[in-house]
Amino acid sequence: MPRTSRNASGRGNNPTPRTSLKAIVMASWLGLTPCLCAGPESRPAPAQPPPARGPESRQDGKPDAAQTQPKPKAKTGRSSKGRLRRDPPGFYMGRPIADVMSWEGVDWLFRETRIEEEQPEAMLDALKIPRGATVADVGAGAGYHSIRLARRVGSKGIVYATDVQPEMLRMLRTNARTAGVSNIKPIRCTQADTGLPAAAIDLVLMVDVYHECSDPEATLQGLRAALKPRGRLVLVEFRAEDPQVPIKPEHKMTLEQVRREIEPQGFTFKESLEFLPWQHVIIFEKPAPPKTQADGGSPSGPGDPGTTQPNPKSGR
Ligand SMILES: C[S@@+](CC[C@H](N)C(=O)[O-])C[C@H]1O[C@@H](n2cnc3c(N)ncnc32)[C@H](O)[C@@H]1O
Repeated sequence: MPRTSRNASGRGNNPTPRTSLKAIVMASWLGLTPCLCAGPESRPAPAQPPPARGPESRQDGKPDAAQTQPKPKAKTGRSSKGRLRRDPPGFYMGRPIADVMSWEGVDWLFRETRIEEEQPEAMLDALKIPRGATVADVGAGAGYHSIRLARRVGSKGIVYATDVQPEMLRMLRTNARTAGVSNIKPIRCTQADTGLPAAAIDLVLMVDVYHECSDPEATLQGLRAALKPRGRLVLVEFRAEDPQVPIKPEHKMTLEQVRREIEPQGFTFKESLEFLPWQHVIIFEKPAPPKTQADGGSPSGPGDPGTTQPNPKSGR
């Protein structure tokens, strides 16, 4: 059963042996073979990470936190009852912020069971990303989705692949080269600065990343600025509603918590797709600017009419 076989390099509940070196070398070799890596279930070949410094994982199976994560500050905001709320350090809206997954655990991102557990091609199919689109894979890691996105948007499209860990980006570059894609632009970002160009992005994808953001408001404001009007922000998060999903609690999120955090930052909830075995695919939109009288619209009209229509196929 794939639901119980999590790898020790990652964030599963049950420590099991790491992906073997042989498997990674095999995957690299497959990535060099164009006819095999173009298929829908193909994986980008993982580059070998540099030798680990110190222990690779703690007793509980999750890799040590990356050194790049700044100490979270206390956050203030309004509670649902309008009272001033102050989160203790390391929390946001009552949720513990997860440690950044260290690059030393990169094998977990390329585990063989990931295809079945996360179905990356089906997830991307559902987003209907057009060829020629400009997309951002935020928290790209070593490029598991960036390379798939690069193939989908084609040579006229661009994939900005951002990460806070330079080691991840080094592996991503190698993987992109091996996979033969040349339309990925890696960007070293920080928790406070996405590094993305303004109003340039059609779709931002964050797979298993948002819950690690130690400054969520700064990250979301940066992403909002980077998106074009009506651009989409897509969060893929392990379902905290489901105790059967074998991921540590701080690496899972409920749909309710995601909406509570994202919507106040100027995003409109569109729908939540619930067809993946373990993950929510939660889609938000950056509203278009309100029409002015000069455009022929009402000066005080809503910027994003119609976004409250329920989608019968979604988990809304
Ligand atoms: C669990 S990994 C997922 C990587 C990739 N999305 C995947 O699915 O293979 C999370 C990644 O997000 C990165 N990360 C955490 N916070 C970030 C932030 N605010 N901006 C960009 N990257 C971030 C981490 O460095 C790590 O590489």
